[in-house]
Amino acid sequence: MTRTPVTVTVTGAAGQIGYALLFRIASGHLLGADVPVRLRLLEIPQAVKAAEGTAMELDDCAFPLLSGIDIFDDATAAFEGTNVALLVGARPRTKGMERGDLLEANGGIFKPQGEAINAGAADDVKVLVVGNPANTNALIAQSHAPDVPAERFTAMTRLDHNRALAQLSKKAGVSVADIKKMTIWGNHSATQYPDVFHAEIGGKNAAETVNDQAWLENDFIPTVAKRGAAIIEARGASSAASAASAAIDHVHTWVNGTADGDWTSMAVVSDGSYGVPEGLISSFPVTTEDGKWEIVQGLEIDDFSRARIDASVNELAEERDAVRKLGLI
Ligand code: NAD
Ligand code: LMR
Repeated sequence: MTRTPVTVTVTGAAGQIGYALLFRIASGHLLGADVPVRLRLLEIPQAVKAAEGTAMELDDCAFPLLSGIDIFDDATAAFEGTNVALLVGARPRTKGMERGDLLEANGGIFKPQGEAINAGAADDVKVLVVGNPANTNALIAQSHAPDVPAERFTAMTRLDHNRALAQLSKKAGVSVADIKKMTIWGNHSATQYPDVFHAEIGGKNAAETVNDQAWLENDFIPTVAKRGAAIIEARGASSAASAASAAIDHVHTWVNGTADGDWTSMAVVSDGSYGVPEGLISSFPVTTEDGKWEIVQGLEIDDFSRARIDASVNELAEERDAVRKLGLI
């Protein structure tokens, strides 16, 4: 093997998403079937032993692309030289916890991780935040990494994007592969807006093809937006394999590019496009090429979509104001 391995840091490595994610990274699905990877796993001290167990299993898979695994309970060490940082570990909301408590608890995680990325990550580092509240956690980490270009910090709405593809494909009786230009706008929360008005099915406008506004409003949008809660209700635990798969898709698309005539959804730092206040990390339709993303410009937004985008963006602004008040950004 002649290529230099790419260093991938995964936080929360002993958690359920970590367990579904690491084996796919090591088998080449994150970056490509010819790209060797070196894993750096970050866990809290109490979970290091479990992460060691996962590392033993990774060894036992004898993945040809896996060139090493190191485990840390210290963020500075874990992000040393990292090219791709997957920030999965977060404090889950527990009984009696208010949203503000969750933002504060996660600030305690994402502030030092942002600082550690700033201090030691590779110059080309790309960061994906999965841990919730993902958009605002990404904002916290990014604001503590002043030497890293802001556009390298992203948050995951690819799971929502994939959920939207799945729902639309069932309704239209087509394969997900026939659907292009799906968009998730806003926050990875129940206020998100899955938008089919610019999507296409077999090259034709998806909303016109489906032609069922009641389904769109009363079924599709709430089903996608509340899917995370529905999975928790059904499984007794939050989505894990689908979240890991979406994280793989997010980074793979960022690194390898979107297909011609298609785009994806990523939560990225706003430049003010579509009236989203500059600096918020909000989901947009984006194209990617050569490891860089660009927000798709010039889409017409009607009143129906405008109201929904604004509601989700307002929630992001509230979260930003809350973490600002807590001194986290
Ligand atoms: P989990 O509780 O199974 O695992 C989380 C892991 O993170 C644990 O092993 C924990 O020890 C670790 N951890 C906690 N603090 C840490 C820190 N400071 N540094 C390193 N590791 C730390 O949770 P999970 O099911 O794997 O989910 C992880 C996160 O992903 C949650 O916040 C969840 O809500 C979120 N999530 C996001 C999406 C999305 O689409 N953006 C989808 C599903 C889940
Ligand atoms: C999901 O979308 O499945 C998760 O973000 C749900 C959650 O709250 O962990």
